[in-house]
Amino acid sequence: MKRLVTISLIMLVIIASFPVILNSQVSPRSREPFNENWKFIKYFNASNEATTPDREPEGLQAPSFNDNSWRTLDLPHDWAIEGPFSDTLENNTGLLPWKGIGWYRKHFTISSTDKDKRIYIDFDGAMAYSDVWLNGKFVGGWPYGYTSFRLDLTPYVLYGQENIIAVRLNTKKWDSRWYPGAGIYRNVWLVKTAPVHISYNGVFCTTPEIKKENGIISISAAVESHLNAPIPVKIKAEVYKLNEKAEASSSPVAEFMSPLALIPALDDHIFRLDLRVKDPVLWDLENPEMYCAVVLVMLGSEVVDRYETKFGFRTLLFTARDGFFLNGKRVEVRGVCNHHDLGALGAAINTRALERQLEILKEMGCNAIRTSHNPPAPELLDLCDRMGFLVEDEAFDVWKTPKKPGDYNKLFYSWHVEDLKAMVRRDRNHPSVFIWSIGNEVNDQNNPALSESLRAIIKSEDVTRPVTSGCNWDESGTNGFQKTLDVFGINYRLYRYDAFFALKDNADLPFHSSESASTISSRGEYFFPVVQGDLNNNLPGKGIFQISSYDLAYPGWATTPDQQWEMQDRYPGVFGEFVWTGFDYIGEPTPYGGDLTGLRPGTRAYDRAKELLDRQNVTEVPSRSSYFGILDLAGFKKDRFWLYQSKWKPEMPMAHILPHWNWPERKGLVTPVHVYTSGDEAELFLNGKSLGKKKKGQYEYRLRWDDVVYQPGELKVIAYNNGQKWAEDMVKTTGKAYQLGMLADRSVITPDGKDLVFVTLKIEDKNNLLVPRTNNQINFSISGPGRIVATDNGDAASHESFQAKSKKAFNGMCLVIVATEKGATGSFKVMAESKGLKAATITINILK
Ligand code: GAL
Repeated sequence: MKRLVTISLIMLVIIASFPVILNSQVSPRSREPFNENWKFIKYFNASNEATTPDREPEGLQAPSFNDNSWRTLDLPHDWAIEGPFSDTLENNTGLLPWKGIGWYRKHFTISSTDKDKRIYIDFDGAMAYSDVWLNGKFVGGWPYGYTSFRLDLTPYVLYGQENIIAVRLNTKKWDSRWYPGAGIYRNVWLVKTAPVHISYNGVFCTTPEIKKENGIISISAAVESHLNAPIPVKIKAEVYKLNEKAEASSSPVAEFMSPLALIPALDDHIFRLDLRVKDPVLWDLENPEMYCAVVLVMLGSEVVDRYETKFGFRTLLFTARDGFFLNGKRVEVRGVCNHHDLGALGAAINTRALERQLEILKEMGCNAIRTSHNPPAPELLDLCDRMGFLVEDEAFDVWKTPKKPGDYNKLFYSWHVEDLKAMVRRDRNHPSVFIWSIGNEVNDQNNPALSESLRAIIKSEDVTRPVTSGCNWDESGTNGFQKTLDVFGINYRLYRYDAFFALKDNADLPFHSSESASTISSRGEYFFPVVQGDLNNNLPGKGIFQISSYDLAYPGWATTPDQQWEMQDRYPGVFGEFVWTGFDYIGEPTPYGGDLTGLRPGTRAYDRAKELLDRQNVTEVPSRSSYFGILDLAGFKKDRFWLYQSKWKPEMPMAHILPHWNWPERKGLVTPVHVYTSGDEAELFLNGKSLGKKKKGQYEYRLRWDDVVYQPGELKVIAYNNGQKWAEDMVKTTGKAYQLGMLADRSVITPDGKDLVFVTLKIEDKNNLLVPRTNNQINFSISGPGRIVATDNGDAASHESFQAKSKKAFNGMCLVIVATEKGATGSFKVMAESKGLKAATITINILK
C-alpha cells in the first residue's frame, strides 16, 4: 500500500498560525490524566520503619477491602522522598527508604455510555515490579520501573458502577546503583477508544526525504480491531505545522486518504502512507520547528479514532573523522548525563522542574542529554523537542551480567526485547532523540553477539537512528564489540583514544565520549593546598564530607573537564561528550558512597571504604547525594558551570573568578585564583594591583594564578579575546551577614496544581553581596494560597528532610520550592526569617 502521493493529491495551504491546540478538538478518543485521589500504603521490612506495619496482608486487591485508613494522595508519587534519611540504609541509593512494598488503590466509575469502548490504563512508569488488578481480577503489570506500558482494562470494567483498581509495587526485588525512587512516580492515563483504533504508540513518522522545496513524511499507523467480524477500514492523514506554542496551522499542510484495508476479526493492520510537505521547516537546536501528523481512522465516512503525533524534519549524519552533522551543519555535542530524580522533589516527575533544569543547562551552552541509564519520563523528550536539545535515549545499565544481585540481570532474558521495543515505539517520533543507547558499562563487553542482537531489536523498530553503548572496558573499542555499534561510545578512558583511532578497522566508526569528566565538587567549598587528581589527594580533614570546588578532583577512573577537552581537540572525529553529570542526584555520593553497608569483608570495595571511614574517623558516612553535578542538588551553579560555559559558549563574552574572597584565616597565605573565561587572555588585579596577564596555551582551558597571597579586598579580572577587551568579573571580601535576599525563577505561577516556583535564598551583607561560608538556619513560611513543596541547600551530607520548612543554608544559599492549589486565585507571599538577620519576603502572582 506504500506509495508516494503526487503533488496533485495534496492540499497545500499557506500556513496561518491559528490558536487551535489539536488536543482540544473533539475526538472519539479520550486520554485523561488518572492521577488524582489514590489511596496508598507501604509495607517495609526495614526495622527503622516502626510506624508502618511490616507485614503485608493478603487480599489488598479485593474490591471489598476497606482502604479508608490508607493515605489519600495524587500521582506522580515517590514514596521514599519523605525519608527519613537513615544510616542503616545504603548511601549509594541516598539513605532513603525506597525498598518495600507499596499498594495504591483508586475508586472510579466508568459511565454506561462507554460500554462499547475499549478502556486502557497507560503507566508512564511505576517503580517497580508492578502488578495491577481491576475489581479483584488480575490485569497485568511490568517489572522494569522505567518502561512505559499499557494495560487493557476492558474485560474487567463494571460500567455505570464503582470500579476499584489496585496496584502493587515491589522495590524489595530491585537493586540500583543510584536512587531509583519508588511508587507510581510518573503520570498515569485513562484512555478510551472505539473498538477499532490506533494501537498503543502505534504511529511512526519518518522523513525519508528532505529537500528545500519538499519533504516527504512517511507515516506507518498500526490499527487494531476488537470486532468479532472483519471490517473494512481506511485512514486519513493530515499534517499540520505547529507554532512555538504547539498550536496548529489552521489547515493541514498535507493530507492523504489511504485505500481501504480489510482488517480480520480481532486483528490489526499497518497502514503506510507517504505525504509531501512543501518547503519543510527544519527542526534544529536554535529553532526547534515541529509538525503534527493527525491520523483519522475511518469506518465508511465515520471517524472512529483521531490520533496525534508530533514530529520534525531534520537530518542526522554521523561521520568517523569529521564528527556529527545536524541538517548538514557540524554540531559539537555538548551534552550532560542526568539521572531521573529531581533533587528535593525525588523521582516524582514534574514538568516545570525538568524545564527549569533544561533552562539552566541551555544557559551553560549544553545542547544534549543522555538519559542515563534508563528510558526517561516522556515529558523530558517533549521538552527537548520544544527547547532544542539532542537526546541519547538509553535503555539499560545492565544486561546479562549483574552489577548488583537484583538489578536488570534478573529481567534480562524475559524482558529485554519487550523493554527495548517499548522504548523505541514510545520515543521514535521525537526529533530530539538522535541516538539509541542499548547499555551503559554493561558487564558483557566481551559478548559482541549479545550486543548485536540488542542492536537488531532496535533496528527492527527504527532504522533511522544509530545505536550506541557506553563502553568502559579497555578492549571494547578494539575487540570487535565496537563493530556491533553504529556509533562507538567510550566512557572516560582518554588513554584508549589513540588505540581506537589507530585501528584501521575503526576508520568508518563514529566516536563520542558517552560519559566524561566525573569531576567532583561541593558548591562554595575550597580546600588548600590546591591539588589535582584522584580524590584521595583531595580529601579534606576529619568529618568534612565535602569536595574542593577548584574542579580538579575526580575518582580514579575520571578526569577534569580540561583533560577531556584536550582529547576532543586533538581528535576532531570525536563528535562530543556527555558529562557526568549535569545535576547532582540522590545516591552515589562518590567518594563518600562506600560505607560498609552491603559490602563484603575481604573485598577491595570493603577495604577502600574502611580506609575512608578510618581516615575520617567515623563509622557512618552521612553523604546521600552526589558530588558529580555541574549544578548542585538544588540546581545552584557550582564553579564548573562557568568552566563549561566558557568552552561551550565561546561566542559569549564571560569571565568567572574562583574562589570567594572571605578568608580571614588565610591572611598572608598562598590562595590560588582560577579564572574561567571564553576569552583567550586575562589580567588579574588584587586591590587594584595587577597580578599579571596570562594567556591560554594550546589545550589550556582555564587561567591560573596559583601563587596569589591572600589579603582581603577586591579581586578583579579583565579578560581579553584576540587582544580586545572581552569580559570582567569581580569578587569582594564581604561584610558580616546582615540580611536575607530572595529571588524567584518566575514571579507568576499557573494554578494547575502542578506548576512550581523555585525561590533562591541568599544570605547577604549590607551591600547585597552573598556572604560565603554562612550556614544560618532559615525558616520559610507562606501567607496566602501557596504551599511549600520542598526545601534544599545542595549539601550532599545534609540529613534535614526535603519537606522541612526550616533548613540550614549551605555556603550562603538555600532553595524553597513553592506551589499553589488547583484553581487558586490572587497571590501569595513567601517569607524567610533567620535569627539575627533581616527577613525577606517575595510575592508570587497566580495566573488568571
Ligand atoms: C560511571 C557510570 C555512572 C557513574 C559514574 C560515576 O562509570 O557509568 O553510572 O557511576 O561512573 O563516576
